[in-house]
Order: sequence, then C-alpha cells, then structure tokens
Amino acid sequence: MKSTLLEVRGLQAGYGDVQVVWGADLRLHTGTTTALIGSNGAGKSTLLRTLSGLITPLSGSILMDGHELAGAAPPDFVAHRIAHVPEGRRLFAGLTVHDNLMLGAYCRRDGRGAVQADLERMYALFPRLAQRRRQDATTMSGGEQQMCAIARGLMAAPRLLMIDELSLGLAPAVVDQLIETLAQVRSDGTCLLVVEQDVGIALEMADEVYIVDQGRTVSHGSAATIASDPAILEAYIGTVTP
Ligand SMILES: Nc1ncnc2c1ncn2[C@@H]1O[C@H](COP(=O)(O)OP(=O)(O)O)[C@@H](O)[C@H]1O
Ligand SMILES: [Mg+2]
Repeated sequence: MKSTLLEVRGLQAGYGDVQVVWGADLRLHTGTTTALIGSNGAGKSTLLRTLSGLITPLSGSILMDGHELAGAAPPDFVAHRIAHVPEGRRLFAGLTVHDNLMLGAYCRRDGRGAVQADLERMYALFPRLAQRRRQDATTMSGGEQQMCAIARGLMAAPRLLMIDELSLGLAPAVVDQLIETLAQVRSDGTCLLVVEQDVGIALEMADEVYIVDQGRTVSHGSAATIASDPAILEAYIGTVTP
C-alpha cells in the first residue's frame, strides 16, 4: 500500500468574484502518477495553481503529509516541496538551459553538492538537455522546452511534481520519451500529478485518474478501471478511444 502524500478535501477556489473550483477531493500517493482529465475550462489549471499556492482557496483543505497548507503563502508550498510546471512551460528567455535548471533550485537549502548532483541527474535523465546546456532555453523545440521545464521543476527536489498539459503540441515520439522518463522519476519516489488533455496518454501513464467537470472532481479510479468504463469518459469528456 502506497502512503498518502497529498490529501485535498472540499477545495473551492477562483479568481476574485469568479469561482472556478467548486469541490475538489483528491488523494495522491508517493511513487505514483495521477492524471487529471476533463474538458477545456473544467478548472484543472486553476486546481493546480491552488495546490501550488498561487491561488488561495476559498475553503477546503490541502494536507501535505499531514500539514495544512490551505491559506498558507507560496513559500510554504515550496518548503513542503511542491513544484509546478505551468502550462506553456514559461522558461526564462535569454537564459541558458543550465541557468533555467539552476533557477529551479534557488530555494533549496541542502547545499551545492546536492544541487550539483541533481543537475547531473537531470542531464542523465534528459540527454537532449545535456547537449544544449549552453543554449538559450526558449530557442529549443517544444519538446526540448517541455523537458527543460520538467527538469527545472525537478531541480527543486520536489516530493510532488505537478505538470500542466504535458503533451500539448508535442510530437508523439517526444511524448513517448517523456512518459518513459517520468516513469523513472515516479519509481525514484516522486509523486506526479499530471493534467493531460489526451485521454489515451493519461490512461497510459497514470496509476490513478480523476475526472474534473465544472470545477468538481466527479469520478476517480485506477487507470484500468476508468479505461474499462467508456460510459464515464463519454459522459464527461465526449467520445474517446483510449
Ligand atoms: N486568471 C483568470 N482570471 C479569471 N478567470 C480565469 C482565469 N484563469 C482561468 N479562468 C477561468 O476559469 C475557468 C477554468 O479555467 P482553467 O482552470 O484554465 O480550466 P482548464 O485548465 O480545465 O481548461 C475558465 O472559465 C476560465 O475562463
Ligand atoms: Mg488548463
């Protein structure tokens, strides 16, 4: 039995007067991948922003390893080692791959040796980045930029890494490579939460799947269970061929 890392209960959140998340309940386990799927505008990105402290929830609970983070400031989320790879990667233009990765480690307190070791680990995980370590990160291909954004997230040594829209705009071969690399990250003990608009990819890479509809987590189960119940997928997402 995998241990619970993050437990979210009754979470509600939004932007000013516009409420977007109306009731999210999640349980994430160490060393597993969980996928959030749901149609455009369902509130998936808003949910991730709330879980990384960028948005303060209106109500509900975010328990990270038993610590209540609802209402905490963004640095508290970082201190609890939650990292977020935003949609669209958001790499720093004019900075090299190396500098982007080092910025991912800026709030670590475990010393230069550990950071250096993780940097080498990233170049081993993503050999393409090793070849391009001196290149301006934003001049790379979409796939390489996604690798860089994920590696930058991992440089924070997160226990929970959240990735928004993993495969969006990327070629299938690149996506396959990312899935393989993330399986390795997961087996090293990191908990992954991935928003993925391609249901087939979500079911392939995830252990657990949650369906988000109109700001609520409406259904969840193992990827195998969800895959074997096309009625659920059709009800919330439309016709899909996993
Ligand atoms: N910065 C923002 N300010 C106000 N409303 C927003 C903002 N970002 C997203 N929304 C709204 O929140 C809703 C959910 O968006 P989002 O969380 O991006 O959904 P998803 O990621 O599932 O596509 C949408 O109606 C969107 O217009
Ligand atoms: Mg989104």
